[in-house]
Amino acid sequence: KDKFNIAVLPGDGIGPEVMVIALKILDLVTEFWDLTINYQVAAVGGDAIDQLGKPLPEETLALCKQSDAILFGSVGGPKWSHLPSGQQPERGSLLPLRKTFDLFCNLRPSPLFPELASFSPLHPAIASKGFDILTVRELTGGVYFGKPSLRQGHGPDEYGLDTMVYSRKEIERIARLAFDFANIRRGKVTSIDKANVLMSMILWREVVEEVSRDYSGVEVEHLYVDNAVMQLMKRPQDFDVLLCPNLFGDIVSDQCAMLTGSLGLLPSASINSSKFGLYEPAGGSAPDIAGLGIANPIAQVLSLAMMFQYSFERRDIADGIRNAIQKTLRDGVYTKDLVSKSESYATTEQVGEHILSYLRNVWAKEV
Ligand code: NAD
Ligand code: IPM
Ligand code: MN
Repeated sequence: KDKFNIAVLPGDGIGPEVMVIALKILDLVTEFWDLTINYQVAAVGGDAIDQLGKPLPEETLALCKQSDAILFGSVGGPKWSHLPSGQQPERGSLLPLRKTFDLFCNLRPSPLFPELASFSPLHPAIASKGFDILTVRELTGGVYFGKPSLRQGHGPDEYGLDTMVYSRKEIERIARLAFDFANIRRGKVTSIDKANVLMSMILWREVVEEVSRDYSGVEVEHLYVDNAVMQLMKRPQDFDVLLCPNLFGDIVSDQCAMLTGSLGLLPSASINSSKFGLYEPAGGSAPDIAGLGIANPIAQVLSLAMMFQYSFERRDIADGIRNAIQKTLRDGVYTKDLVSKSESYATTEQVGEHILSYLRNVWAKEV
């Protein structure tokens, strides 16, 4: 199949700013490659609340259902955080999209290339070795979706309640994918849990251990989440695939991103068993820098690359985009989040233009 429909949902804050860059690259792909790509933009999150009164309007959901993949920016911000939780951008749009399309597998790759080690806040003795971590985060279960989830009572007796629940089959399907990825990478899965305290995590560890028996070529390691975040800073090069329940994957992947230099570098792919996917930066709408033209567009562009790799099975295009990004960073063209001390920085648009011109040159010769 060489014809794809993409639903483009820019959302809030820096979402639309970095989406502009990703769409330029998408246009370049259609210019050079023999693919027909149609994309249609729709409102989501706070932007949709402002325009249409709800975070996930019917027309947006309908567009997603007709599409082969969703390219998502980010949602949320102080303007909408006073709303009742179900009507907020995050719980009212992003989580329902993940659930509706059964996007249980969230992939967040955070490689640190040795030649870009100076971006890392880690000690040079550690960073110079580089590392390549893939977080495989369970995305449709756990405490994010457990019922009940509510507030009740009054005064000092009022309470908030969430439920952390995992079924054997939910754990098994994400664990299998993590082992499959480890099989084609460096052969190691580190499962992150809290099996010393939580019942759902005791089951998690047990099921992961069972699944591991089907993968004799893959080494399995279990770490409690507190120890895991510590070990990640101490010896990041020892990790390959991190298998995480929903909440821990959320936390650990932000840390992995920062170990490579910035949250603005971390893309994500949220996919289901039929390779339908939602592709978005792992970071959020960054209200602190929105509107300044300084957001790092790389996470958004890498998310587009992941779309080509996982939903469209075009690894060649994905790799081309990733190479252009590495080249851009090596050329010293990057945004403020990656700048230390007195170095000058490039704008979102300048970084985008640099990636585009590199790709244009390469694809003009190769394609
Ligand atoms: P955030 O990820 O938006 O920002 C955290 C920090 O990282 C900020 O200092 C921000 O400037 C920086 N940052 C993030 N992305 C960046 C980029 N591309 N370039 C440069 N700097 C970048 O997290 P937050 O401030 O806790 O949350 C803000 C809002 O975003 C909240 O409403 C939150 O719920 C939402 N959020 C949405 C998503 C999503 O849509 N997928 C993800 C995370 C947070
Ligand atoms: C992420 C975000 C979301 C999450 C929020 C916005 C619901 O932090 O994708 O990492 O917690 O999953
Ligand atoms: Mn997060």
